[in-house]
Amino acid sequence: MRGWLALLILALGCGPDVEPPPPDFAAILYPDDNPSTPAGMALGERLFFDPILSADRTVSCGTCHRPALAFSDGRPVSVGVGGLAGTRNTPGLANIGYLHQPLFWDGRADNLETQALHPIGTVHEMGGNWPAVIERLD
Ligand code: HEC
Repeated sequence: MRGWLALLILALGCGPDVEPPPPDFAAILYPDDNPSTPAGMALGERLFFDPILSADRTVSCGTCHRPALAFSDGRPVSVGVGGLAGTRNTPGLANIGYLHQPLFWDGRADNLETQALHPIGTVHEMGGNWPAVIERLD
């Protein structure tokens, strides 16, 4: 499960046709036990923009992380399911795979795999829960 969710983000910046970065450029952090594949990246991209992951099927990751705004949303604080406002600004995700530091404004997620577990159950984001999402995806 955690594999395809982490690929939600990795998928967006590293497709197979993209030229490799210069040699001195920081490497993308891929988990050793979760190799990146074209099929996984395609699934990750699809799920990133699919509202099926939210409680009422109205909010996707891409609702707040909009490609046209460097994967941010242009608002002072994010707005999720039912119009509920969050408490923090949505960070842009462009080149996020190259970020070698903890994620979220307070650094509470160590990497993209653990970060991707948060939005599904956060009340003012996707407002759902993992058992329900897993059942939907089965
Ligand atoms: C309702 C808006 C909203 C939705 C939906 C949402 N996010 Fe976010 N995202 C945010 C906000 C706000 C933060 C910052 C939260 C914090 O720091 O506490 C954030 C932080 C992040 C970060 C950390 C970025 C950094 O630089 O630290 C990543 C990665 C991310 N989101 C990916 C996702 C993924 C993947 C999904 C879908 C599974 C998703 N987000 C759904 C608003 C949203």
